[in-house]
Amino acid sequence: MDILSAIKNRRSCRKYMPEPVNDSDLDAILAAGAAAPSPANSQPWEFIVITGKDAKIKIHDEALRCRNFLFEKSGWKWLTKYDLEFVKDVPAIIAVTGDPKKTGADMFMDGGNNAWRDACSASVQNMMLAAAALGLGSLWFTMFDRNNLRSLLNIDNEKIPTALVFIGRSSADLVITPRKDIKEITRYIK
Ligand SMILES: Cc1cc2nc3c(=O)[nH]c(=O)nc-3n(C[C@H](O)[C@H](O)[C@H](O)COP(=O)(O)O)c2cc1C
Repeated sequence: MDILSAIKNRRSCRKYMPEPVNDSDLDAILAAGAAAPSPANSQPWEFIVITGKDAKIKIHDEALRCRNFLFEKSGWKWLTKYDLEFVKDVPAIIAVTGDPKKTGADMFMDGGNNAWRDACSASVQNMMLAAAALGLGSLWFTMFDRNNLRSLLNIDNEKIPTALVFIGRSSADLVITPRKDIKEITRYIK
């Protein structure tokens, strides 16, 4: 699949078939993550591939705790409708952690030292597009407290978990979410 079709076809997937993701697909997705741009090529990311049921249940429980906490803080009703059962059965989860020491020139700029996180995000997006190109669904998932996730996944204190990337074959049609008109969000300087 060409890159523009992968971008168009990728949509957040929240229902997965139980079949595992095969190793060659997982390897291709990880390689796509590692191919992302980063400040001064610092490659601030590390990946943890999670396929075991126990870890998925712990991630589910943390997400539920987080959802309830966010609802208490915000009162946002949609949070109560956000079903997290699927988290226990996602075929593969890739945790992306970043190293804030691995930064670039941005450390000298106003409000600097964020580029490591931007790079981790580029890596997440690359993985999701690779998954789409392989006909797999994916989800960028952030319902966790970073310290809790760190102890759940045995991540050392120097590293910051930035995202969980869920991957697997979708068991439902992906929902096409609307986008703003390009004209509304773009201006040109000629
Ligand atoms: C930084 C970031 C965090 C996100 N966290 C979550 C999350 O915790 N749970 C979830 O279901 N979706 C999460 N999403 C997915 C968005 O809800 C989704 O991308 C958005 O609604 C647009 O839908 P689409 O991905 O299908 O185009 C996240 C996306 C981003 C970029």
